Amino acid sequence: MDTLAAPPGGAPAASVTVQPATRLRGELGLPGDKSISHRALMLGLLAEGESRIEGAGDGADVRSTAGVAAALGASVERVRGNGGNVDYRIVSPGDEALRAPAATLDCGNSGTSLRLFAGILAGLPLTAVLDGDASLRGRPVARIIEPLRAMGATLDARDHDSLPPVTVTGRRPLRPIDWITPVPSAQVKSAILLAGLRADGTTRVHERVATRDHSERMLRARGVIVRSLPDGAGGAVIEIDGGTTVQAMEERVPGDPSAAAFWLVAAAVHPDAELVIRNVGLNPTRRVAIDLLARMGAPIEEHPIEAGAGAFGAADAGEPVADLVVRSSDLEAIDIGPADVAAAIDEIPILCLAATQARGRTTIRGAGELRHKESDRLAGIAAGLRALGARIDVDGDDLTIHGPVRLIGAATDSLDDHRLAMTFAIAGLIAAGQTTVGRPASASISYPGFFTDLERIRA
Ligand code: S3P
Repeated sequence: MDTLAAPPGGAPAASVTVQPATRLRGELGLPGDKSISHRALMLGLLAEGESRIEGAGDGADVRSTAGVAAALGASVERVRGNGGNVDYRIVSPGDEALRAPAATLDCGNSGTSLRLFAGILAGLPLTAVLDGDASLRGRPVARIIEPLRAMGATLDARDHDSLPPVTVTGRRPLRPIDWITPVPSAQVKSAILLAGLRADGTTRVHERVATRDHSERMLRARGVIVRSLPDGAGGAVIEIDGGTTVQAMEERVPGDPSAAAFWLVAAAVHPDAELVIRNVGLNPTRRVAIDLLARMGAPIEEHPIEAGAGAFGAADAGEPVADLVVRSSDLEAIDIGPADVAAAIDEIPILCLAATQARGRTTIRGAGELRHKESDRLAGIAAGLRALGARIDVDGDDLTIHGPVRLIGAATDSLDDHRLAMTFAIAGLIAAGQTTVGRPASASISYPGFFTDLERIRA
């Protein structure tokens, strides 16, 4: 394998070559959940006093959030790194005492940082500019600007308020709103809830399709009143009472189920594989990819881990956690509808690889949101898997994948998108011959140790 490390003063490797693996065996630890790590840092910024986070993901996205939290006035200390994860100590003067940043707030590649911080800034009496890299500058922000303006904050963005950078001038108190999210998005829901903390009344978000609920759980754990009421039709109404104080706490972050999905599919599609994946967060709103793989015929063993204290004595995040065991499987095609797409939005690329090895025609319907991720993932996944010989039809927002197909190594391009880089690298484990992954360093956005782990599990 080519080295990923950048030569001193040089650029990261333009591509990496992945050889097929004869067997896959071993145990894997995961980066701390990216969604929970972002939120723990942000809530640590809002809470007066000392918060600790144990086992946060140490990818570039979470680092971006740590940098923004520091720029807004918290002391953010990396206490120690442990195998791709990091423990943080945050000391904040509390949201009343945060300061206007001296410079633009750099969210890097991270949509979660930009959108959730917009919600936080909407309720702070200061002006700040949120910006990021070329990919982030292409991602839609009208979806947060509209509700936050309706709450009384002032926001402006490039290209008729559609694209970053976003300038936010907050207001106190904000007006509570009732908002129906037009696209299922935990980022939009979370931005509104974070602004709702500073509204003078109860803010309601109605999501027609339920999305990850970490913000709700983590706000509750910090003393904020948040109610989630199922709407009886697969969605939910989430209410937050404004004016409550976010309390500082210590929290242990479980392993990221979206990172686990790469290894689950690797083992399921490989003819001779058994992998043990330690400490995987199994929040019901995040485990859908596991359930979809089980429906495809990959029985995944779950060995629950009791809630307990970590090295700091930090409590678990109140999320179910388990070790998983996955083995080679005969996969069958399934139909994946829009609600499952929303719940497994980050796992769709790797599930597409699984579908290339499943007997029959897998359909994935309502996947248009994938066009607005770190790259146009719909186009990127189709191009990369087709280069390897997969049969994929894209029709509007729907995908049809015909399997099983014997993949043949070829050149693929991650489009600088971490989830595409990791999907094509996993494909390289089963493709005949050599697979190259262009722009592989993007994996470190969410999983800095990914390529090391990939080589380690070759038996
Ligand atoms: C995230 C929500 C998802 C997901 C992203 C993380 C979050 O985005 O794709 O990786 O932490 O809230 P959307 O909710 O905008 O789909």
